[in-house]
Amino acid sequence: MKTILTLESTCDETAAAIVTDSLEVLGSAVASQDELHRRFNGVVPEIAARAHVERILPVIDLALERAGVTLQSIDAIAVANCPGLAGSLLVGVVAAKTLCVALEIPLIAVNHVHAHIYACRLAAGFDIFPCVGFVVSGGHTSLFDCQNATEYDLLGGTIDDAAGEAFDKVASMLSLPYPGGPAVSMAAMNGDRTAFDFPRSFVRDPDRLQFSFSGLKTAVRYAITGPGRVDFSQVELSAEQVADLCASFEEAVVDCLVAKAFHALQKTGHKRLCVGGGVAANQRFREALSLQCDATGVELHIAPTELCTDNAVMGAIAIERMKAGKFEPLSMPIHAGLIR
Ligand code: KG4
Ligand code: ZN
Repeated sequence: MKTILTLESTCDETAAAIVTDSLEVLGSAVASQDELHRRFNGVVPEIAARAHVERILPVIDLALERAGVTLQSIDAIAVANCPGLAGSLLVGVVAAKTLCVALEIPLIAVNHVHAHIYACRLAAGFDIFPCVGFVVSGGHTSLFDCQNATEYDLLGGTIDDAAGEAFDKVASMLSLPYPGGPAVSMAAMNGDRTAFDFPRSFVRDPDRLQFSFSGLKTAVRYAITGPGRVDFSQVELSAEQVADLCASFEEAVVDCLVAKAFHALQKTGHKRLCVGGGVAANQRFREALSLQCDATGVELHIAPTELCTDNAVMGAIAIERMKAGKFEPLSMPIHAGLIR
């Protein structure tokens, strides 16, 4: 049996996990930085990088302790080297390389966005490829044609904001706490989803596998302040108005996400859809996907909620690369952008 240590530091979670080559998760630890970024209503890259430096070694120690193994028993180290915030990525990558040198073991690269889809493979316990892979997170809204566990072709993504980013920005406009997704979703439960007729970009164009949420965000802003105005300072909303805005916004995002997922299934001919990323924890999105997949005979895999937001367990995708002999030199770079 081979055992790997996986590291994750792409954005604002510092995480480590110990996984075996039969995809058994022996131990995992995640340190969230939400409380550090809350007062800025979003992730501040410099603060994130510094917090990763402080947390990476304690998080590795905790994951090893939970797994009941020592560093000396680890056979390889995997680390997310793309995409993400440059300063954050560097912390995980430098830690991984240093441990590889010290322990004389190989280094494996993890594509963080691909790993979000692989969370579905872990949860399923069986092969889920080929499929349409869909990552809906704070930084990405991307559809992939996944031929097998390691070959993912990008079909399309957002041309402006990611879906999670839109949730976070709308939460900020409504003075709801960061991260905005869970807060907006909770407020939406008491709201009327038809109260506001917000735009749904590209939903009627099946050939366009792209997303745009900036127009929706602006529509929410004008619904709060009145057309053409940007100043929130004079606006006081009732709890009912906030709930209606959240519900109508959430419904518009979910409609766009579900429509495009099905356009991707149509285009590729796949009958299996695998969804991951922070926004995949959204209850309304999960329900809407399940309903439409049941109605059309599509096999649906959504990552369990604890594996939707950033974690190192999904870095188990590195086991696939290890089995294919795909190791990296110690000169391995980071890539802040998404590699196709
Ligand atoms: O995957 P993730 O942890 O980080 C990135 O790789 O970006 O996703 C974080 C994003 C945040 O924008 C957060 O607001 C959103 O996921 N999110 C949600 C929910 N839970 C987290 N969005 C909508 N509904 C949720 N329940
Ligand atoms: Zn992520």
